[in-house]
Amino acid sequence: MKNKIAPSLLSANFANLELELRRCEEGGADLLHFDVMDGHFVPNITVGPLLVEPIARITKLPIDCHLMISEPDKFIESFARAGANMISVHVEAVPHLHRTLSFIKSFNIQAGIALNPITPLDYAFDAAEYCDFILLMSVNPGFGGQSFINSFHKRARTLRKFLDENNLSNVEIEVDGGVKLDNVREIADSGANILVSGSGLFKGDLVQNIKAMRKLLE
Ligand code: DX5
Ligand code: ZN
Repeated sequence: MKNKIAPSLLSANFANLELELRRCEEGGADLLHFDVMDGHFVPNITVGPLLVEPIARITKLPIDCHLMISEPDKFIESFARAGANMISVHVEAVPHLHRTLSFIKSFNIQAGIALNPITPLDYAFDAAEYCDFILLMSVNPGFGGQSFINSFHKRARTLRKFLDENNLSNVEIEVDGGVKLDNVREIADSGANILVSGSGLFKGDLVQNIKAMRKLLE
């Protein structure tokens, strides 16, 4: 499965987002990870469809919207119409997951679920056949720049094995939180192929960092 590098715009300079996008493109990023927080499901507030729309208009990179919000069903349509190519919802926030995943797919975009670091993997086992990707958090969601939580490795290996053994090998595993140049190889080896990185890429030279990450993933 192709390894995909997904810079998290949470760590970008919002006063000059277009420049940051161009740098992501120049470095060879595969998609843009867009963190949506509501101050309710997580203790922080970020941005919504209003910002996805102008970004989608000026880039060809797919936009991956990670909804860290309560009642995401209310906003899925707005994100899809704004130009999201992938939407993930947190299983901890959604009572009727099957319905929500079908709703995301009804816009012909990719649907995913996100699990906090200690949310039981059973959710992923049962939902996998309805998902294009599964996001395993490797920090508690809410902020960039936190340290990677090691339980990720065992969880990713278990999930990858389950997917491969159940005719679901096309379901991708996304990792989010604390992913940096010095741990990305080990993380990919555990089974994640969509690698979200915020501070790990935006600190220093973004273009060079993306290229360096690509080399490590070859
Ligand atoms: C955390 C967000 C992440 C965040 C990752 O709640 O979901 O996408 O931007 O940031 P880093 O890579 O700095 O841990
Ligand atoms: Zn995220």
